[in-house]
Amino acid sequence: MSTTPQTPLDYSTPLKFAYWVPKVSGGLVVSTIEQRTGWDFEYNKKLARIAENSGFEYALTQARYAASYGADKQHEATSFSLALLGATERLKVIAAVHPGMWHPGVLAKFMITADHLSNGRAAVNIVSGWLKDEFTNFGLDWLEHDERYVRTEEFINILRGLWTEKEFSQSGKYYDINKFTLQLAPIEVPGRTHPEIFFGGNSTAAQATAGRVADWYFSNGRTLEGYADNVNGVLAAAATAGRKPRFGLNGFVIARDSEKDAKDTLREIVEKAHRPAVEGFAASVKEAGASTKDGKGMWADASYEDMVQYNDGFKTGLIGTPEQIAERIVEYKKAGVNLMLTCYLHFQEEVAAFGRDVMPIVRELESDLARKHGTELDTTLLPETNFDKVSL
Ligand SMILES: Cc1cc2nc3c(=O)[nH]c(=O)nc-3n(C[C@H](O)[C@H](O)[C@H](O)COP(=O)(O)O)c2cc1C
Repeated sequence: MSTTPQTPLDYSTPLKFAYWVPKVSGGLVVSTIEQRTGWDFEYNKKLARIAENSGFEYALTQARYAASYGADKQHEATSFSLALLGATERLKVIAAVHPGMWHPGVLAKFMITADHLSNGRAAVNIVSGWLKDEFTNFGLDWLEHDERYVRTEEFINILRGLWTEKEFSQSGKYYDINKFTLQLAPIEVPGRTHPEIFFGGNSTAAQATAGRVADWYFSNGRTLEGYADNVNGVLAAAATAGRKPRFGLNGFVIARDSEKDAKDTLREIVEKAHRPAVEGFAASVKEAGASTKDGKGMWADASYEDMVQYNDGFKTGLIGTPEQIAERIVEYKKAGVNLMLTCYLHFQEEVAAFGRDVMPIVRELESDLARKHGTELDTTLLPETNFDKVSL
């Protein structure tokens, strides 16, 4: 199977990097292995500053409401994101939001204020939801899988409409907006017309919807072949809508001095997995891709080991020495990735190490790749770094 997407690649734009905000207890793996990762605000404030000084441009907060699969406690995504924006200078923070839980007009208004408070650094990740109990126990409608994406598409169109038009109206199956003008409008930032709209999902319906309406398509961890498949699905829909989305991919990073050490760490994570929590999670995720007609989508082909990192992050294979990881990341650039979303066992020290040890090799390899394709890596687009401000 080909790993090359059916679109001309942009070799001159450097890859961007993001990290998952660890604002749920228990870290990003469902395992009893030692994790030096906190989920409180003080830990996350320091982490965000480390990240923006180490070359990370984005942080992603996840939306969870009820205790589940190893995470007993979690903070709310939009308020936590806003606090992180207030604690940083350049980092863009992407808050996950469920269409079934928010009204698009309320979110549009909230985000405009967040955007002004942060000088244009607020972004959203629109997630259609898979955790049925959170909806039904809140007394909300639980829509069938593909129908959730019908609602999401309307939701995103309204969000963009309210951010960019006056007297905006849209009447659909789920929402009815009548001549609404939001004042203030979002802050003006070169290169974007409104806060960026990310979209997370893997199924066929998710890819089609993302292609038609998202600025950024986010996928769970994937192999190179699997990822190219997702990219092509999104591109096909984007072409019909005349849009050019960019692409993000999740990967769990284990960078160690030797490949053996990295693989041993992965083995220990899986050996110490919290089995009942992973099995409970595996039962809940049947509402995602596995429930669709073609059976494709998030977690549809995930093994027990994959589910220990609940966003399939091991599949991306960012496990080895800094050189091996950098090489792998550049392979994903060739498969269409523009932004690598990362997670770690020990966030503060590993985010700093990633910026120090992995990113410079990525930049060298990206420069070589650009030259091979008759262009140069545009280093004016690289984010500012301040390693002397990174203190652990
Ligand atoms: C990078 C990424 C982040 C996500 N974050 C969340 C989240 O914070 N909360 C949530 O309920 N779902 C989240 N999702 C899940 C998706 O919204 C969607 O429900 C999931 O992909 C299952 O649907 P699918 O099989 O259609 O892909 C995320 C997905 C991705 C790829």
